[in-house]
Amino acid sequence: MITSDVQQAAAVIRAGGLVGMPTETVYGLAADAASGPALAHLYAVKGRPADHPSIVHVASVEDAASWAAVWPAQAELLARRFWPGPLTLILPAGERAHPAALGGTGTIALRIPDAPLALALIEAAGTGLAAPSANRFGRVSPTTALHVAEDLGQDVAVILDGGRCSIGVESTIVDLTGSHPRILRPGAITAEMLEEALAEPLSPLVEGAPRAPGTLAAHYAPQLPVLLIDDPLDVDDPGSTTLIAPTGTAAQGFHAVVDAGATPAVYAERLYALLRASDLSGAARIAVLPPPPTGIGLAVLDRLRRAAASA
Ligand code: TXA
Ligand code: MG
Repeated sequence: MITSDVQQAAAVIRAGGLVGMPTETVYGLAADAASGPALAHLYAVKGRPADHPSIVHVASVEDAASWAAVWPAQAELLARRFWPGPLTLILPAGERAHPAALGGTGTIALRIPDAPLALALIEAAGTGLAAPSANRFGRVSPTTALHVAEDLGQDVAVILDGGRCSIGVESTIVDLTGSHPRILRPGAITAEMLEEALAEPLSPLVEGAPRAPGTLAAHYAPQLPVLLIDDPLDVDDPGSTTLIAPTGTAAQGFHAVVDAGATPAVYAERLYALLRASDLSGAARIAVLPPPPTGIGLAVLDRLRRAAASA
């Protein structure tokens, strides 16, 4: 059921159930991060392998620190600067999280989402909420309550409706367990913003040996094959191709042309809804002309590369 009743949703969490939770990035599928049975249910519904950890969502910086074994100065700095917001910090895990939320890593991913319903739910439930994106493993992330209902409605009793996600791609993940902070997944908080806040350089993003499903080569995939292109003229069979492209892109002869907006930020906000709609457009494939690779455009490009890798 799609609802805005936070108390009802909090009762579901306390009883070990699952709630579709709006955040500013994408919708999450939330469960009590301290409960083994709730997490087992979460992983079964999501279809997610047990060795993939989940982000634990909390409502205050003090609360975040209580889920970690240590709270370094870098964490304090980034938390005060960017939370609530689209930034996830990886730290050594404390005792509070059930090991099932940690995927055997011994580390914990923490974030305060910038979304009033999510914060109200966390506070009313009185625990941290493990919440992967509320899609089946490997598929397109949801940015509306309806997306969640379409993907998981059979298995999720309550979906909180917070409207459309304002950012549209998942949080930036920063690993604070190494000698230097390192980005594991790009998002709306960019490397430049982090380096400026930390006053130190980040370790370079390392490809390969991923611990994280969102960093697997193939992920975020719609049903149709996705082709990442530099120029619409390179598409061999435009008549059976739906093109997703920035506003004003010159393109002729396509099955459909979908407007991804004039800026990388608008592109990010629309991305997952456009991939879902393009799946239903009646074309045989989706060609995507990405936004410029600056700011959040880098996060969009990262998700599109992984969506195209499954084709
Ligand atoms: O914006 C977001 O981050 C959204 C919203 C719902 O908060 N959540 C999200 O969750 O994208 P998910 O599970 O789809 O992606 C979380 C990523 C995964 O790649 C996961 O493996 C990684 O975070 N992760 C979680 N805990 C980790 C840990 N302890 N060490 C390394 N990576 C971790
Ligand atoms: Mg995900």
